[in-house]
Amino acid sequence: MSDELKSTKVNSWNEWDSLKHVIVGRADGTMVQAPEIAVQREWPEQGYTEGKYGPYPKEMIDKANEQMDNFASMLEKRGIRVDRPTPIDFSQKVQTPDWEQDSMFGCMPPRDLLLTIGNEILEATMSYRSRWFEYLCFRPLLEKYFKEDPNFHWEAAPKPRLSEGTYKEDFWKKWNALSEEEKWEESIKSEWIPSEVEPLFDAADVVRFGKDLFVQKSMVTNQTGIDWLQRHYPDHRVHTVRYKELLPWHMDTTIVPLRPGLVMFNPGRPALEPQREFFEKNDWEILEAPKSVLTKKRPMTFCSIWLNINLLVLDPKTVCVEASETPVIELLDQNGFEVIPVPFYEVSPFGGGLHCGTADVYREGSFEDYFPKQVQGF
Ligand code: ARG
Repeated sequence: MSDELKSTKVNSWNEWDSLKHVIVGRADGTMVQAPEIAVQREWPEQGYTEGKYGPYPKEMIDKANEQMDNFASMLEKRGIRVDRPTPIDFSQKVQTPDWEQDSMFGCMPPRDLLLTIGNEILEATMSYRSRWFEYLCFRPLLEKYFKEDPNFHWEAAPKPRLSEGTYKEDFWKKWNALSEEEKWEESIKSEWIPSEVEPLFDAADVVRFGKDLFVQKSMVTNQTGIDWLQRHYPDHRVHTVRYKELLPWHMDTTIVPLRPGLVMFNPGRPALEPQREFFEKNDWEILEAPKSVLTKKRPMTFCSIWLNINLLVLDPKTVCVEASETPVIELLDQNGFEVIPVPFYEVSPFGGGLHCGTADVYREGSFEDYFPKQVQGF
């Protein structure tokens, strides 16, 4: 066994401790997924009108892979161990006794699936049928870590049935009939497509601050999923959080922890819970995220342009930010960070930025309480 493998250690409690080992995704074979209840995709300019599905163009995949490979080698040069998933044939039809789905999606954003808390990596339930089997791409790595690290807890949340009753049947019909103004009014209720029949969550709806975990109720995470997480992590405080946002999913462009005492908020997504009070009471400084340099989404991208703040903190003094995003780079520079500019926007059509495209395996550091003062109703 090489020294590197012998030293495998799974451990990570937050988004900022010194990163030593990380998984970086791959774009190979990513599909515009076949229609399913939970997702709407439509890119008529690329031939993907409603209901159509098929592979992303090869040149887009190649460009994304090139940026991810460069990012991975930059991290390795800094002494960080990088592992990659093993893509499978995402164009295949998949099924369980409850449903059939004509294609899968891909494995670019490991953050969506793998939740590392302490010495445990938890495979999230996932909420799309097209992503139900995505864990298979990460199994070769998890099997390896299990052999190499005797303290690694390998855990999987209950696989959801994802039957008809898992989703609110008429959600899209009602939603699509609303005016813009009505949509914003409706958003405050935070009643999204998942029903509460079974626990549902994607790992990227969790943001880790040591003892405090923020979990967003969203298009892919329901309250039952959040309750499941609280029971699964009895030593943590799990906060259900909601933001004023249309069709929210994944929180890593909404609230961005930078280091103990410093966090960035997305000004376009005000919190519906007393989140600001919670930070202020515990003497955290709040930065307001600057707008992206982009004015519109790149082709075939289902993420918002707030990917400008989807960054990866390497340690409390060093952060990776998309190379073209000067406003964020300058803000973090003014706040004492060494900022590493990383070209990554070719990756965004595949499901996100530098945070989505990675998943922690090991950050040095321990379980800490950064919020000794609690706030009523949060
Ligand atoms: N809803 C977020 C946005 O579009 C998603 C960011 C992607 N995050 C992820 N972990 N895949 O702003």
